[in-house]
Amino acid sequence: MLGSWWLVGLFVACTGGRKLWNFPTSHTDEFEPGKLLWEPQCQYQLRHLQDGARITAVVPPRLDGHWISTGCEVRPGPEFLTRSYMFYANRLFKAYQFYYRDPACQDPTYSLVIKGKVRLRQASWITRGGTEADYHLHKVGIVFHSEKAMQETVARINQTSEEHCRGFLPVRRTWAPGALYELLSAKAEQDCTSGLGFAMHELSLVRVEKYLQPTLLQQNQGSREVEELYLGDIHTDWSERLHYRPTGYQRPLQNAVRHIHPCPACRIIYRADEHHPPILPAKSDLPMLLSGHWVSARCEVRPAVLFLTRYFIFHGNNRSWEGYYHHYSDPLCKQPTFTVYASGHYTQGGPSLAVQGGTELVFKVTDARVTPMDQVTVAMLNSSDFGSCGEAGSWQVGQELDVTHTNGCAALGIRLPHTEYELFRIEQDAKDGILLLIGERPTDGSSPSTPSKRPTSYQSPLLQCEGPSGATARHIKANYLGRLGGDINSGALKMLPQGLLPSILAAQLLRWAV
Ligand SMILES: *[C@@H]1O[C@H](CO)[C@@H](O)[C@H](O)[C@H]1NC(C)=O
Ligand SMILES: *[C@@H]1O[C@H](CO)[C@@H](O)[C@H](O)[C@H]1NC(C)=O
Ligand SMILES: *[C@@H]1O[C@H](CO)[C@@H](O)[C@H](O)[C@H]1NC(C)=O
Repeated sequence: MLGSWWLVGLFVACTGGRKLWNFPTSHTDEFEPGKLLWEPQCQYQLRHLQDGARITAVVPPRLDGHWISTGCEVRPGPEFLTRSYMFYANRLFKAYQFYYRDPACQDPTYSLVIKGKVRLRQASWITRGGTEADYHLHKVGIVFHSEKAMQETVARINQTSEEHCRGFLPVRRTWAPGALYELLSAKAEQDCTSGLGFAMHELSLVRVEKYLQPTLLQQNQGSREVEELYLGDIHTDWSERLHYRPTGYQRPLQNAVRHIHPCPACRIIYRADEHHPPILPAKSDLPMLLSGHWVSARCEVRPAVLFLTRYFIFHGNNRSWEGYYHHYSDPLCKQPTFTVYASGHYTQGGPSLAVQGGTELVFKVTDARVTPMDQVTVAMLNSSDFGSCGEAGSWQVGQELDVTHTNGCAALGIRLPHTEYELFRIEQDAKDGILLLIGERPTDGSSPSTPSKRPTSYQSPLLQCEGPSGATARHIKANYLGRLGGDINSGALKMLPQGLLPSILAAQLLRWAV
């Protein structure tokens, strides 16, 4: 009963319920089964969390099949691309990478056709839950989609590749639509891909997950299976990417027959080939209105290797922010290790010149608190040098201690005060939910503490689970919320760990009290 009471409290706190939801959960018994309820997003998310994880890892991963991007992807650089990869039972694969000039993936420049063979090896020792693989490239071909794209790309290859690659195009170097040029051939022992910063090391770390996407009752469709293929991450430093062996993942590809719904981009990408690159549907640009509550859509992996979920609150009125970073030891975020609460201020953003569609912000972290969640972390913090991480020797499982007065916590790599140069983007998902993309962390484990280290790509998206209040809210309501439909990226909501609950509850109740 207590649980219900708290949730009722929250229900009041999350005012302005705007989602007509039924719960595909075991909690429906509290309500009349099948009854539709006005349900605020945070509330739904909390309930969903309490149901526990719905994700399962497919071990060993089954690669066979056709896997596609679900939208426009951004790689460090930036590079804007979509991917469509086919893996066959005989271990051969054929992969398309479609590159674009713009962050909406509407203006294609060139496409790569990559053929080769991949072989799964053992479970990764570095990235828990991942499987290592060997791959071998047979051929890489390139098709240019405009004269300009060809000139630019050839100039890049000319500048950065060896002599023999300079004339890889035939003598008459005018653009021939549809012509495919060989960049790499194992047989001919030719490889001119490095000039493009191209490598397929993403195939050396794989993970497959599946889960059930709950569907809306109105559509009466029950739930739907979704399968995701995680491939290795791309190094954020361009000069490292050709050598880097992944320890984290990119945003997952989804199985072409078992993808999330709706996914307007999926069918377009599925049907595309090197001569018909996918041109994605236009999305309206959303302004950088950060105010509100945002939460991870999934258990996230950071290279080298941390599992975590993030939960942020941005207060637009005084430009202050709060963040909860819940760390785990396992890839499904079930075994908590420690939580960091951090807060500070941020500046007004301006458009990024380096990354079209992005907004640059500067974040100051001034306060931090740490809660160890297991004995190993307690022991580590207890034994840290005096004055380097809160009150030495007073750490206990589940008890939060302030580390602001010790300028952070050396043992956990937290230094205060701290400034980060950030890249943000706000996006609409396929169902009119609002996503927040925060810049990718440098792969080398450092932080973007100078303008030159500002990210050029993004981490996995956060979901807006509660909107702003006050004037900003009225502005957003007038302009955007009208379009918020019935779903909030429900597939992405699939799983959030129990560990997140107390802090969400705390934050929500705090807000309610204010
Ligand atoms: C690339 O190099 C080749 C051979 O040196 C030259 O003929 C060609 O004009 C160059 N192309 C560009 C776009 O710079
Ligand atoms: C900023 O405003 C929010 C909401 O009005 C409030 O909860 C928070 O304490 C304020 N933060 C600071 C640092 O003033
Ligand atoms: C950490 O120190 C506190 C206080 O001395 C003690 O109660 C606790 O048992 C210690 N924990 C570990 C794991 O060392």
